[in-house]
Amino acid sequence: MYKIVRKEVLNPSVSLIEVDAPYIAKKAEPGQFIILRVNETGERIPFTIADYDREKGTVTIIFQKVGKTTELLDTLNAGDEILDFVGPLGVASHFENVKRVAVIGGGLGTAIAYPQAKKLHSMGVEVDMINGFRNKDLVIIEDMCKQACTNLYTMTDDGSNGNKGFVTSKLEELIKSGVKYDLVVAIGPLVMMKAVCELTRPYEIKTIVSMNPVMIDGTGMCGGCRVTVGGETKFACVDGPDFDGHLVDFDQAILRSKMFKEKEADSLKQHKCRMEGMQNA
Ligand SMILES: Cc1cc2nc3c(=O)[nH]c(=O)nc-3n(C[C@H](O)[C@H](O)[C@H](O)COP(=O)(O)OP(=O)(O)OC[C@H]3O[C@@H](n4cnc5c(N)ncnc54)[C@H](O)[C@@H]3O)c2cc1C
Ligand code: FES
Repeated sequence: MYKIVRKEVLNPSVSLIEVDAPYIAKKAEPGQFIILRVNETGERIPFTIADYDREKGTVTIIFQKVGKTTELLDTLNAGDEILDFVGPLGVASHFENVKRVAVIGGGLGTAIAYPQAKKLHSMGVEVDMINGFRNKDLVIIEDMCKQACTNLYTMTDDGSNGNKGFVTSKLEELIKSGVKYDLVVAIGPLVMMKAVCELTRPYEIKTIVSMNPVMIDGTGMCGGCRVTVGGETKFACVDGPDFDGHLVDFDQAILRSKMFKEKEADSLKQHKCRMEGMQNA
């Protein structure tokens, strides 16, 4: 069992939990993820390692409530335990010969981009972090990000934080102003990552994206997480989740991401009915 040592609610749908997992904390690197199972009847779901503390032996994940299991996970608090917490999984991010990098986070993707920015910043790289949210009430981990980069730009679609625009408009503005990036790291919704890749392609700026297809075993056995990269089938759990964005077939990934929508909605509905039933009993 894995004890939750800290929980923070970051906005109405996003929470952070720090979990006592010393063996994972010892080996974890930015870009890697864990797979957890809340209880015996629960499904296995992946989360990026947002942070780790090797001395304390803890691993932090930041999650958004989007369905049955994330709703269930959010009912847990500090002191509660998670049944399975497996990792670190996936290939760690590897950065070489970079002096200036733009790290882009879209919504919850900010939490997944944060460890990459932190790692680059700790290597002495100049990091421009551009995070985008629908409105100012959804902004998360702004203070953590400030510590993990050289320049932080927090954008909102509706301009409610005073910075109106998409992450792509800010990136384009910076590129057009003459900033020379050796690398762009873009993490967020598939459509956002695709838009960033379309923007950087003509400038020939290498762009890394983090793919998040449905994962089941997380060890390359089931094939559930396959993505097409450079015309080849790759498994995001063992070959990724980071890939060269200019080679990713985003249209296929977007289609595949919609495959289970009906089943997921049904499962959440049944979970909510059961929870309400228990509260009324
Ligand atoms: C490598 C990786 C890292 C991720 N990191 C984070 C993170 O740090 N924070 C976070 O909030 N979310 C993260 N996700 C997505 C997270 O796993 C899903 O939000 C979660 O599984 C939803 O489960 P659910 O039962 O609450 O929702 P459901 O209603 O079951 O599904 C809602 C949506 O979540 C996704 N999803 C569902 N099951 C899985 C699965 N087994 N594997 C992958 N995606 C699934 C699908 O896009 C689906 O449409 C990551 C996904 C991957 C693949
Ligand atoms: S999750 Fe099964 S092969 Fe990747």
